[in-house]
Amino acid sequence: MNITVTVNGEARSADVEPRMLLVHLVRDTFGLTGTHWGCDTSNCGACVVLLDGEPVKSCTVLGVMADGCRVDTVEGLAGADGLDPVQQGFMECHGLQCGFCTPGMMLVAHALLEREPDPSEADIREAISGQLCRCTGYHNIVKSVRWAAEHPKETVS
Ligand code: FES
Ligand code: FES
Repeated sequence: MNITVTVNGEARSADVEPRMLLVHLVRDTFGLTGTHWGCDTSNCGACVVLLDGEPVKSCTVLGVMADGCRVDTVEGLAGADGLDPVQQGFMECHGLQCGFCTPGMMLVAHALLEREPDPSEADIREAISGQLCRCTGYHNIVKSVRWAAEHPKETVS
């Protein structure tokens, strides 16, 4: 099937098998390997992308389901004006160790801040409850998201 997806703001077309998962469309067809493929069983959240602004585990979505939609990946978080506050927050608060979970964590956090600019710790923990991290113990991830909430885009240098 021929599909067209707006990937990080750019229209991309591809011929794909109907059975191809979105995670493979993003990684293998579009070459955006920042989206990680972890468990393949919808448990880890490493594969999260934003589909029309909503976080989805891309190992649970068919690529053809994204036809005509917007897909945003971790590669699209930073703009010409610098890092997204979430990315800056993960740097400031050491919100990662190995980094495998980080793209999915940051996209979930970005989507949370879009709908709730001042989330509580409980809100953040709820938002990332579908994401597994084997390294950090989550505390610094929560701090990183709070840092981003306290430093919205216009104040990040
Ligand atoms: S690879 Fe999709 S949830 Fe783990
Ligand atoms: S930083 Fe290693 S899995 Fe989260």
